[in-house]
Amino acid sequence: MRLIIRDDANGASAYVANYIISRINTFHPTAENPFVLGLPTGSSPLGVYKILVEKYKAGLVSFENVITFNMDEYVGIPRDHSESYHTFMWKHFFSHVNIHPSNVHILNGNAPNLEAECVAYEDAIKRAGGIDLFLAGIGEDGHIAFNEPGSSLASRTRVKTLAYDTILANSRFFDHDISKVPRMALTVGVQTVLEAREVVVIILGQRKSLALQKCIEEGVNHMWTLSSLQLHPHPMIVVDEDATAELKVKTVKYFKSIEKVAMDAGFEQILPSKVRTGNGPIPQTKVDEVSSPTIHAPQPTTSRLLRATPATEYPIRSVSPDLVPDRMASRIPEPHLTDRLTPNPEQQTVQQNAITA
Ligand code: GLP
Repeated sequence: MRLIIRDDANGASAYVANYIISRINTFHPTAENPFVLGLPTGSSPLGVYKILVEKYKAGLVSFENVITFNMDEYVGIPRDHSESYHTFMWKHFFSHVNIHPSNVHILNGNAPNLEAECVAYEDAIKRAGGIDLFLAGIGEDGHIAFNEPGSSLASRTRVKTLAYDTILANSRFFDHDISKVPRMALTVGVQTVLEAREVVVIILGQRKSLALQKCIEEGVNHMWTLSSLQLHPHPMIVVDEDATAELKVKTVKYFKSIEKVAMDAGFEQILPSKVRTGNGPIPQTKVDEVSSPTIHAPQPTTSRLLRATPATEYPIRSVSPDLVPDRMASRIPEPHLTDRLTPNPEQQTVQQNAITA
């Protein structure tokens, strides 16, 4: 994990923009071997898009042979709605650079068959050769794309219901009226992001600091889906100082020292050459599969524990061995003790019969 910390949002945005430019330029994309870029929306990447546009206008980068795939889109608002992610992307980025509209991919939240739309999106990513660099932002609850807390870490592009936290956070784009915020979205899955050859995340501001802390200092957890990046071979998170508010001082110092030591030694933390120049393998991130219980045969509807006698419809193992009449005395080796005070059941029966005769 690379964690790059800059003083403020401008510094972090400039780092990310320059990094993307250097990745595209080192790659030398052509029509046959295009650079495939995954892109986010939200306020966090705005500074990055602004700098990318400036650098494009200054002739420092070209998007001629760049293919893009956006992370997500709302379901059910018109494509030309002022807050649709289509509108966002064309307004802030695509219409200012030389990208071919046919190279732009954004999920269609109004597709007649949303599931088919998601499957086709995954196919389109595969046909493009996989994503070289996925840029992402995160939600305050640590979601990546719209992979809300509890999303499967093995998820792929699909329909997702938005969490209340996200609806509240995004209501600022909908006149602060939560009833105007769409309830569902189409989103790439966690696994779709993990399969990019590289993932770069920009995180700005104190309101994201708890999510950053959970995702970096704690374990992989589906309740903070960004934490899945711990499983990726080449993740990089770029943040401003405010976003580090919840991190341990030791964590911040360590990640800052990595960059400083590298710079003092005259090198940068760079990717393996295969990833930098293209045609690298798609990372096979292994997420353990959780298998759900399978019912092999119809089961009785009453719990076994509530049954007076064991069910006979299907084979079950007794919780404890069957009860067998036992006498402690029979376990004692001395024979004279069989003439003990308490009669055994057989003797009792004999005595009983003698009395009743
Ligand atoms: C939405 C998007 C995410 C984005 C998040 C954060 O939920 N689906 O991809 O990361 O907003 O937005 P912001 O950067 O405005 O906080």
